[in-house]
Amino acid sequence: MNKTIEKIVSLCKQRGFVYQSSEIYGGFGAVYDYGPLGVELKNNIANYWWKEMTQIHENIVGLDSGILMHPKIWEASGHIGEFHDPLVDCKQCKSRYRADELSDNINSEKWDKIKCPKCGVTGMMTSPRQFNLMFKTQVGPVEESGETAYLRPETAQGIYVNYQLVQGSTRMKIPFGIAQIGKAFRNEIIARNFIFRTREFEQMEMQYFVKPGNDDKEMIDWKEKRKKFYIETLGIDKKHIRFHEHGEDELAHYAKEAWDIEYDFPFGWSEVEGIHNRTDFDLSRHEQFSGKNLKYFDQISNERYLPYIIETSAGLNRMMLAVLADAYWEDTDNNRTVLRLHPKIAPFKAVICPLIKKDGLPDKARSIMEVLKPHFNVLYDQQGSIGKRYYRQDEAGTPYGITVDHQSLEDNTVTLRHRDTQKQDRIDINNILGIIQKSLI
Ligand code: GAP
Repeated sequence: MNKTIEKIVSLCKQRGFVYQSSEIYGGFGAVYDYGPLGVELKNNIANYWWKEMTQIHENIVGLDSGILMHPKIWEASGHIGEFHDPLVDCKQCKSRYRADELSDNINSEKWDKIKCPKCGVTGMMTSPRQFNLMFKTQVGPVEESGETAYLRPETAQGIYVNYQLVQGSTRMKIPFGIAQIGKAFRNEIIARNFIFRTREFEQMEMQYFVKPGNDDKEMIDWKEKRKKFYIETLGIDKKHIRFHEHGEDELAHYAKEAWDIEYDFPFGWSEVEGIHNRTDFDLSRHEQFSGKNLKYFDQISNERYLPYIIETSAGLNRMMLAVLADAYWEDTDNNRTVLRLHPKIAPFKAVICPLIKKDGLPDKARSIMEVLKPHFNVLYDQQGSIGKRYYRQDEAGTPYGITVDHQSLEDNTVTLRHRDTQKQDRIDINNILGIIQKSLI
């Protein structure tokens, strides 16, 4: 099977997972909208992440901080000074590139020797210029006198600047974590590969505050826990997940050690999540810039220190793309496309179909719908042949098909069809809820 990103993009549009933003106006670069199935899938993934962090771990709590924050935060974090991409332009065809995409060695490269990948002309490339990735905006009604603010490029800083308040109100002791899901914005020079790299996206970040000296051990623990999440919770094939350690030249300005969890996307292995040892870099910078003492008092060792931070930072949209790519399957034997999503994260868990639109079958099907819908998302479908109805739901990733036929009226049974195998079981209607619920754990 040739699994291409184009096929996934097309399925996402047709089935209502993801649309290009502002499509009727010709689109808006590198922003996407999530349709009825997409928003369900994305919410399900986010909910499992949230549960894994804040429900399963007694020492991790949640936070929802603002997208706009005091501009000094971005000076302290290093984003104003360091969050740049080197940019080059082809003077011939006006194409724009990230310099590091054209050359491994952007500092010593002679740019007049570089060939433009688009127009093929050599020697027309500008020297690299630094381009800050943060979106600026103006706070207040008058542009000239207003204060410049930034749309956050990561959710992490909202956690750091609130960490003492959270610790104070929860009385948590180190080690403890704070988790947050929210939008982040980056003015990416080149956005590509669908929802992989966009200008507006969502992050799911957890910052784990540890005693300095325990950071290396915690890093090992978090790497393992996060890898497990992809395989066991999201149901991604373990052969498609690997770690990549950042070399000296890749490390972000805040990191002592960093590992990416990579997924084997149709366009190659690429980062989905970063696990970073940020040391006390962020807290010490916020101490310096705010003038506030951010040290933690450790009652066990009777000392005050700035905690070290282990960060797990995942992109929700990228995670969803990995899930979609992994689930995509062309069942050539049966001439159908299937999204083999784990039932837990599938947007809809079952489709309920009366075999025909008469003889009381729709009413019976609707009565099943009423029983199931308070528990999880289900659909009712009476349009078209039963085979077509099933195939539509195969593409949407719906794991179960429930068909009500004439026998159902006599003995209160239905057929339960399994998406991946197409196997059908005859089961008592009273057992459906239990069977589906069991598959969602
Ligand atoms: N707080 C650390 C941080 O933001 P990062 O490696 O820059 O680290 C973390 O980003 C994750 O956010 C990435 O692994 C990726 O999944 C997601 N991400 C970053 N930039 C993105 C973009 N332009 N579009 C979609 N997701 C992005």
